[in-house]
Amino acid sequence: MIDWEGSLARFTQRSEWPTFVCRPRGIWISELFAFAAWAWALGIDCIVESGIAHGQSTDILRQCFSRVYSIDHAVMPDVAARLIRDGVQVSSADAHVVLMPIVEQLVAAGYHTAVLLDGPKGEPAVELGLRCLDHGAVFFAVHDTYCCAEAPNAVRARLEAEGRSPRWAWSTDDASFVRAFSYLDARVVYLDEAGNGKSPFLLHHHGRDIPMESYGPTLTLLFPTVPHGA
Ligand SMILES: C[S@@+](CC[C@H](N)C(=O)[O-])C[C@H]1O[C@@H](n2cnc3c(N)ncnc32)[C@H](O)[C@@H]1O
Repeated sequence: MIDWEGSLARFTQRSEWPTFVCRPRGIWISELFAFAAWAWALGIDCIVESGIAHGQSTDILRQCFSRVYSIDHAVMPDVAARLIRDGVQVSSADAHVVLMPIVEQLVAAGYHTAVLLDGPKGEPAVELGLRCLDHGAVFFAVHDTYCCAEAPNAVRARLEAEGRSPRWAWSTDDASFVRAFSYLDARVVYLDEAGNGKSPFLLHHHGRDIPMESYGPTLTLLFPTVPHGA
């Protein structure tokens, strides 16, 4: 079972985010917290991420995990320089080419490795994640899964019917998770394509700002087997 409160204490102690300005399709704080809590619960010591952009997710991951490998086929030089200075192993390449060899090397070296995919997205990301599971990754997560042609549990059901892993999925639209932790996103200022800011945590309704009950299944974690205690 995940120690959510203990993980929250660990997460807030390690991560610094006075105000988190999030660009479109960047990963939000509650989602990164969920990913970290699962990874800590499963003894993960190494993260391989694809999709850096401005490095918002990478900045938080590298505060939570001592080994972070991040890939982007269009990594910006200033972002790469900052992340490398902070100890992240940065690859400027297509994840379809470099992600698997990185995962294979880490698994062969004995690291418990989890994969976070935020580019590519959708079905190509699910297929890439499945190959990572085949090569020993403990789990993988795909961001913006509401953009998938199928909802996460439908993806899981299809894969299970085909006899392929994963056999278990968990999403950040889990009702008890949303109730307990969506408030973390009150710190997030989400910039839309026009550069206007608002909090994803709040829904403007009849002249009042009220907390959202769910953003939908934005981050989905897929596991080869049902994790112990889940
Ligand atoms: C939404 S952004 C990532 C945002 C970041 N994770 C965050 O939360 O701040 C998606 C990124 O994925 C990258 N990307 C898309 N497809 C890719 C691929 N096949 N290989 C490597 N990077 C890819 C894009 O260049 C883009 O920078």
